[in-house]
Amino acid sequence: MQKGFWSKLDKPILGLSPMDGVTDVAFRYMMAKTHKPDVIYTEFVNVEGLTRGAVSMLHHLVYNKIERPIVAQIYGIETDSFYKVALMCCFLGFDGIDINMGCPANKVARRNSGAGLIRVPDQAKKIIRTCKQAAKDWSEGITLKEAGLRPKLITALQQMSPSTVNRDTHPHKLIPISVKTRTGINQIIAEEWAKILLEEEPAVLAMHGRTLKQMYTGEANWEVLGKVAKIAKQTDTIFLGNGDIQSLKDAHEKIKKYGTDGALIGRATCGNPWFFSGIEPTIKERFKAAIDHARCFEEMSMKNAFFAMRKHLAWYCRGFDGARELRKELMQTNSSTEVEEILSNFQSNE
Ligand SMILES: Cc1cc2nc3c(=O)[nH]c(=O)nc-3n(C[C@H](O)[C@H](O)[C@H](O)COP(=O)(O)O)c2cc1C
Repeated sequence: MQKGFWSKLDKPILGLSPMDGVTDVAFRYMMAKTHKPDVIYTEFVNVEGLTRGAVSMLHHLVYNKIERPIVAQIYGIETDSFYKVALMCCFLGFDGIDINMGCPANKVARRNSGAGLIRVPDQAKKIIRTCKQAAKDWSEGITLKEAGLRPKLITALQQMSPSTVNRDTHPHKLIPISVKTRTGINQIIAEEWAKILLEEEPAVLAMHGRTLKQMYTGEANWEVLGKVAKIAKQTDTIFLGNGDIQSLKDAHEKIKKYGTDGALIGRATCGNPWFFSGIEPTIKERFKAAIDHARCFEEMSMKNAFFAMRKHLAWYCRGFDGARELRKELMQTNSSTEVEEILSNFQSNE
């Protein structure tokens, strides 16, 4: 089993969970520079769209080297597309590739992608094998052209800024493949599903303690994650629990209680790049980070799309007098300069 950087991480492993529309390059950069988790995942990228030439999707795969170790998360259903996109992730110098088998969104899961893969275990296994093969072929020197990638895509990949995409000194390193999934479709089948996936020896299995049907309702079932942890312990695969972790202390308690090798944390990191330090920031510090984040967003993320930054601004402004009115104002902003103006005029009682 190829574990790559994962084998060098001390346990418990605490990682930033992938979140579509949230863990973009600016957010990841803020997390990495404030208090870096052990590992960072990108938002997921669709393999079929990308292989067919939707080069605009490549912005999901831009990263800064301070984010390392950085894992690219990909989703889809066709093995040929997985093969090509896995090679692209290798080309871009990612430290690992994660296969999404957990997205419950109807447009994804109804095609048996994301959590829909739980319905088609043979295909899920084939996808793991395909990504492993792509990583191996890359390490043995296959080129993007030889793999049949469209010239337009190859050019776009080559043009991705060398200052943000950091292929390192081992351009053909062999990178590990991991899987992130849920506990089942309608019912919890976490143990048998995990056993099926573990047969393919992924470097890491991460499981969100909810079924597809639950989406984000109810509570993540850590009792079940604890049972899966016991199964994974009998293998070489690292097992990470996920769901509803509220704080660093909570993470350590859950990991210890349920015997996982670590955890991925998603929503609790929103507006909180200090999450992995356990530090509670002051309002002034939060405002400074919000301004910083807005500047990073302008520099690194999609141009002319500042509206995508607004939700982050709202997350930074919670839990103090006047936060509601402030959020309303921030939701109208179109630039970091406007954000700075509003936040520097705000008088807090702190
Ligand atoms: C807005 C949003 C987007 C998400 N996008 C992804 C994604 O792209 N890939 C993925 O594996 N999980 C995705 N998730 C699921 C999270 O990674 C995580 O499994 C889930 O939120 C539970 O963990 P938490 O309670 O710590 O947030 C997303 C969750 C949210 C809230």
